[in-house]
Amino acid sequence: MEIKNVKGFKDILFEDALIFEHIQNIASSVAKSFGYKPIVLPTVEYAELFNRSVGDTTDIVEKEMFTFMDKGERLLSLRPEFTASVARSYIEHHMETKPKPLRLYYFGQCFRYENPQRGRYREFYQFGVEALGDISPTLDIEVIQIAIKLIESLNIKNLKIKINSIGCRTCRPIYKEALKNALIPHFEELCDNCKRRFDTNPLRILDCKEEKEELKNSLPTINDYLCEDCKLHFEEVKKGLKQLGIPFEIDNKLVRGLDYYSKTVFEVISEDLGSQNALLGGGRYDYLIEDLGGRKTPGVGFAMGIERLIEILKAQNYSIKEKESIYIAYDKQFLKEAYEVANILKDNGFIAYLDVKGDNIGNQIKRASKVGVSFTVIIGSEEISTKTIKVKNMQTSEQENFKKEHLIDFIRGKKYA
Ligand code: HAM
Repeated sequence: MEIKNVKGFKDILFEDALIFEHIQNIASSVAKSFGYKPIVLPTVEYAELFNRSVGDTTDIVEKEMFTFMDKGERLLSLRPEFTASVARSYIEHHMETKPKPLRLYYFGQCFRYENPQRGRYREFYQFGVEALGDISPTLDIEVIQIAIKLIESLNIKNLKIKINSIGCRTCRPIYKEALKNALIPHFEELCDNCKRRFDTNPLRILDCKEEKEELKNSLPTINDYLCEDCKLHFEEVKKGLKQLGIPFEIDNKLVRGLDYYSKTVFEVISEDLGSQNALLGGGRYDYLIEDLGGRKTPGVGFAMGIERLIEILKAQNYSIKEKESIYIAYDKQFLKEAYEVANILKDNGFIAYLDVKGDNIGNQIKRASKVGVSFTVIIGSEEISTKTIKVKNMQTSEQENFKKEHLIDFIRGKKYA
């Protein structure tokens, strides 16, 4: 059997891998600039963590988890997302003793056994932030602002921010009843999934792609049922976003596919993504930590899909400016001198490719041009006897001999000419 990638798992290669690493660097520096600190969490958790947080009637837990029994007969899952693990870690390590809000960010892979398609994989990477321990709407605004800053730092265009409030445990049950009552006459029209959701999770019917828009538009909206507290919170979030000049749309059918949310939910969607058009999603989860056995601790955050971000960046012709690179070709007997030149270049912030064969200089130059460097430094007998080095400009083919001490100035001069 030919061994290939497992279905839904993929290699991130070459240009994509460079963009991947670049995103990771930019994302963490944006999060850090807002005072967020990194958290590194395990890939495997007890399955029960996700049943109790993401929710056992959600698609993720019902159908998409990689769950298995280990040799000690523990039921474990590969994490399908991070928020539950952050909450588990918060409780386990008594983070309630830390100054509030506790601001954390993470980067790593998640696993969901979904039907693979464009923008949807069984292993994918997320970057996300979580802010724990404060109910202020300013924190909701802050996490949305982080997402926007990150998007702006990468120069991404054509995105839409959608926000909604899905209420709290006071007002949502009343809305759920109103929604179910409005759905009763249409029950037979619903898809099989929504017929099931009718009892377990009726809000999900609002964002089901199978249901007719006409039906969904005729249903009562949560905004009319929000309690005073949720209404005020939502107003403050909208006001803050306007003050920051962040454009957004209110989508009262946005409910998100994880059970732990309350009040604010949001998504950023992109036209460059096809049917899986959500680049990131998040919201507030004021009950999650207490539901998992911790103290009452509200939270808010978002996570962004890295593969989807790479896809958008490529569609928008994003390219990463690499450092200037230089090849070192040399006569084998002058390997020591070649090492010295390579070190000088690296110490000055350039990329140095040292030829590994040291054979015929012509062959080495051919290899240099395949690598695509800007200059090749040549160290042969002539250069050693005249105490110089030769530098070939690979674009113009011009060559020049000069003292080694002038190499860096020469390259910089050419670069900035
Ligand atoms: P989520 O909406 O399930 O939210 O996932 C966040 C992002 O992960 C999505 O917008 C998408 O870009 C990416 N994503 C999800 N599934 C896949 C997949 N199968 N393949 C590729 N990319 C995918 C959460 O995970 C929440 N924990 C977000 C959050 C953080 N809420 C509060 N804090």
